[in-house]
Amino acid sequence: MNTVTTVAAVRAALDEARAAGRRVGFVPTMGYLHDGHASLMERARAAEDVVVVSIFVNPLQFGADEDLDAYPRDLGRDTALCARTGVDLLFTPPLGEMYPQPVLTTVSVAEVSAPLEGAARPTHFAGVATVVAKLFSIVGPCRAYFGEKDYQQVAVLRRMVADLSMPVEIVACPTRREPDGLAMSSRNVYLTPAEREAAPVLNTALRAGAAAIGAGETDPAVVRTLMREIIEAEPLAQLDYAEVVDADLLSVPEVLTGNLRLLAAVRFGRARLIDNVGVTR
Ligand code: PAJ
Repeated sequence: MNTVTTVAAVRAALDEARAAGRRVGFVPTMGYLHDGHASLMERARAAEDVVVVSIFVNPLQFGADEDLDAYPRDLGRDTALCARTGVDLLFTPPLGEMYPQPVLTTVSVAEVSAPLEGAARPTHFAGVATVVAKLFSIVGPCRAYFGEKDYQQVAVLRRMVADLSMPVEIVACPTRREPDGLAMSSRNVYLTPAEREAAPVLNTALRAGAAAIGAGETDPAVVRTLMREIIEAEPLAQLDYAEVVDADLLSVPEVLTGNLRLLAAVRFGRARLIDNVGVTR
């Protein structure tokens, strides 16, 4: 595995690979890698000739009151995980390589960025879209692998790629979970042992909501209340939102039918965790 830190080095390596007819798969991350990230790399490894991973903790997607400085980092361990997962090229740019100052250009995707995570974190998706647009511009034509764990992120980035005609195909991959249902996340390290024990309530609530829809419930308010009550019954959980939306538009339908997505965000102490599940009826 080759580790590079400059835009020029990534371009040189991947232009050469594509010129030789090799397909490029790209997995963007913020590091502190776990099995959820590894599942994306494994998918890319199985489908592509060259697998590129980026590790960059992107300041632009953190709000002023969020955990940028505290965000966990371990480049040594991450490098080892990438190497043993069969990654070919690891891109770990320093801040100045990604954001030559001053930055005057940003990318924002309207509507699909607005509800749910966007309502809770108003500048978040513009930060994500801007850094991913830059990474796509650096990596070039590829298939890019993202986790459904960040469901709205995938929706925002699909829209960005379509609207800006980017030469990238987005591949969405299922959420990898701990045995008790908790979605793997770099932020799970913030949980105290008691919070870790309580945290699966997030997934339990979403699955209960999906089961109610499967059993015939068609009123979004009823499903929302059911999920909220389950989360609010856990004393260590502080509910941010729990919603059921149309899987494509991310808006709340009047009647629950078709492809639906249940999404929730909950705080456990310092950790703000998100999760989602899909259901069709
Ligand atoms: P990060 O949180 O590091 O996640 C990198 C990728 O791993 C994302 O596509 C995310 O959805 C996926 N992922 C995280 N946990 C997962 C799990 N349990 N199962 C499957 N996939 C999982 O998401 C970001 O970074 C950033 O916003 C980024 C896209 C890199 C832009 O900065």
